[in-house]
Amino acid sequence: MKKLVVLASGSGSNFQAMLDNRDMYKGEIIALIVDRECNAISRAQINGIPVIKIIRKECKGRQEFKHRLLEALVSLKADYYLLAGFMSILPEEIVVKFRNKIINIHPSLLPAFPGVDAITQALDYGVKLTGCTIHFVDEGMDTGPIIAQKAVEIANYKDIQELTLKIHEIEHELYLKVIKHLCEEAILVKGRKVEIISQGGLDEN
Ligand code: GRF
Repeated sequence: MKKLVVLASGSGSNFQAMLDNRDMYKGEIIALIVDRECNAISRAQINGIPVIKIIRKECKGRQEFKHRLLEALVSLKADYYLLAGFMSILPEEIVVKFRNKIINIHPSLLPAFPGVDAITQALDYGVKLTGCTIHFVDEGMDTGPIIAQKAVEIANYKDIQELTLKIHEIEHELYLKVIKHLCEEAILVKGRKVEIISQGGLDEN
């Protein structure tokens, strides 16, 4: 079993999908880390997952936040750290120390529309397709090697609420598949290229 740590700041619907589908991957979620009070905390508590709060606003500056986060990540000794709506930018020292061990999910087809409000950015730009991307975290903003992407056609959804719901739905499915393959050591990174080494790729049964 791989040891997994989830980092979240918000509603935690991706985290919930991981909790509800634990039989889909050979991993154990050993802790939730949050940087603020948020809904994800109660999801962890209901499921008996320890919560580590590193409240960014309570830290005296970036150094203290970095120090406390680094300490938590090191002491947890996880195989993978899964960002699921974690709204703090990870300090470079952490990204370097945990290279190819931190994974993020982003609600657009990167490299289009990095950063906040990605769904609104896509709608405002007028693209016909958007979706979600799961990637390893590097030093940039949503720029790390891409593990998986799934597209949705914007015209199929009547407003931003419907589109957002659909994107969340595909995020949950895709994240679970990626976690399954991470836990089976079936995801290889070579520079910017990520290879899924199981026979059917991400969609194998
Ligand atoms: C998701 O859309 C994810 O792509 C982005 O933040 C959102 C988190 O949603 N990074 P939730 O908290 O998992 O519901």
